[in-house]
Amino acid sequence: MPFKSLQPQDVTFFQSTLESRYVLLDAEHIERCSSDQTEDLRYPPEVVLQPGTTDEVSRIMAYCNTNRIPVTPRGAGTGLSGGALPVFGGVVLDMKRFNKILHVDKRNFQVTTEPGVITQELQEHLKAEGLFYPPDPASKGSCFIGGNVSENSGGPRAVKYGVVKDYVLNLEIVLPDGNVIWTGANVLKNATGYNLTQLIVGSEGTLGVITKIVLRLIPAVKHDLTLLVPFRSAVEACAAVNAIFLAGFTPSALEFMERDALVWSMKYTQTTGVDLPDDITAHLLIEVDGNYMEELYRDAEAISEIVQGFDIGEILLADSYEQKNMLWALRRKVGEAVKSNSVYKEEDTVVPRAELPELLKIIKQLGTAYGFQSVCYGHAGDGNLHVNIVKGNMSDEDWEVKLPLGIRELFKEVVRLGGTLSGEHGIGLVQKGYMDIAFNAVQMNLMRDIKRVFDPEGILNPGKVL
Ligand code: LAC
Ligand code: ZN
Repeated sequence: MPFKSLQPQDVTFFQSTLESRYVLLDAEHIERCSSDQTEDLRYPPEVVLQPGTTDEVSRIMAYCNTNRIPVTPRGAGTGLSGGALPVFGGVVLDMKRFNKILHVDKRNFQVTTEPGVITQELQEHLKAEGLFYPPDPASKGSCFIGGNVSENSGGPRAVKYGVVKDYVLNLEIVLPDGNVIWTGANVLKNATGYNLTQLIVGSEGTLGVITKIVLRLIPAVKHDLTLLVPFRSAVEACAAVNAIFLAGFTPSALEFMERDALVWSMKYTQTTGVDLPDDITAHLLIEVDGNYMEELYRDAEAISEIVQGFDIGEILLADSYEQKNMLWALRRKVGEAVKSNSVYKEEDTVVPRAELPELLKIIKQLGTAYGFQSVCYGHAGDGNLHVNIVKGNMSDEDWEVKLPLGIRELFKEVVRLGGTLSGEHGIGLVQKGYMDIAFNAVQMNLMRDIKRVFDPEGILNPGKVL
C-alpha cells in the first residue's frame, strides 16, 4: 500500500483547519511520536496534528481519506505492540488535547469522557464521587483511557472486575471518511443490531478515531488487603492459582512474578522492603477487596491455608497503605525494569487459567531449545502471562532469525492449550506476523473485509493487526 509523501498543500490544509501551533513539524514532536513503549522501534511521522474537537478530527480524516494520507491515532504512547507507530509516515493524530472528563452521571453510574484523559486521573476523579472504574493497566499513571479502549486493556483487577470491554457502553467515533457516529446507546443492556461498540473496543485505532467514551461504573469498594506468597517452585505457584478459585475465592488481583521479575523491579525501584531467600523462585501477589475488613481478614486466612498446601516460604500480609503501595509499585514496574536491563521482546500469552502451569513449563523448555532467557510475570488469575524474552548475550543473528521461530513455536503451543496471542497488549505491529497461528484464512478474510468496510482507502493506522 504505497502512500506518497506529504505535500506542502497538505500542510497548508492542516494549518487552515487547526491553529498552526497544533500542526507540528519540529524535530522534537516528530521524535516523540516516532516511538511508543514497544521495544526500540522508531518510525517518524511527517507531521503531528493535535486536534481539539471532534469536528477537527472529522475534517482531518475526510481530507486524508480523499488524499490517501496515512493517519495513525496516538494516545499516551505507552503501548507494547506498536499500535501507535506511524509505520508509513504521514500524520500522527495526537489526541492529548482531548483531555476533559465531560460528564459524571452519578444517578446512572456512568461517565462520559474524552479519550486523552489519563486513566488514573479518571479513576481518582470518580473515586471522589464514590464511583469505581476498575481496569488498571500497569501504566495507569500515564496511559490514556482512549488507548485503553483501543487496546481493550486489562490489568490486575481484571480477574474479578473484567477488562475495559466490560465497561464501555458507547463510543463517539470519527470514521476514516470523516463521518461521525455513536456506536451504541448509554444503556446497560442492548440487543439492538450489531454490536459496533465492541467491534471498536480493541480494534487498535484501525477502524475509527475515538473522540468520546461512555463508561459504566460501579460503587466504590471500601477496603482491600494484599498478600505476597513466596514459592519454591514457579510451576507450583501457577498451580496454586487455580486451587484458590476451586476453593471458591475470587481475589481482586492474583499476580504472578518469577524471581527475576521481582529482583529486577526491586533494583530498578531501589526497594529493599521484601525479603527474598535464595530458594524462592516465584511469588503470587494476591489482593482481596470488599466493604468489610473482618471479611477480608477471613478470606486472607482461608487463602493462606490453601497456598500452604504448596511448598511456600513465609507469607507477607500487607495491610498498611505504605506496604501495599510498595508491593504494587514493585509489580507495576516489572515491565520497565526488564526494559532497563536488556533489549527484550514482550509476548502477552493467555491460556485458560488451569493450563498456566503447563504454559510455564513449555516456555522454559522452548527457552532451552532455542537458547533464550525469559522472565515471566503477569495476571495469573486470568491465565495471562507476560513473557519477557531478554536478549542478554544472545547473538544478533540468533535474536533476529532463531528467536522468531521459538516465539512461533510458543504461540502454537499457546493455541494448542486453548489460548491466544495477546490478552491485553494487542497485536499492533509486532505480533501481526503470528496471526495465522490463531486464525485461519476464512477468519482472516472476514477481518480484512470488516477493515475494508470501515476504511476502504486503508488510511487509518495502516500496517497494523492484519
Ligand atoms: C503489566 C503490563 C506490562 O502487566 O501489562 O505490567
Ligand atoms: Zn499486564
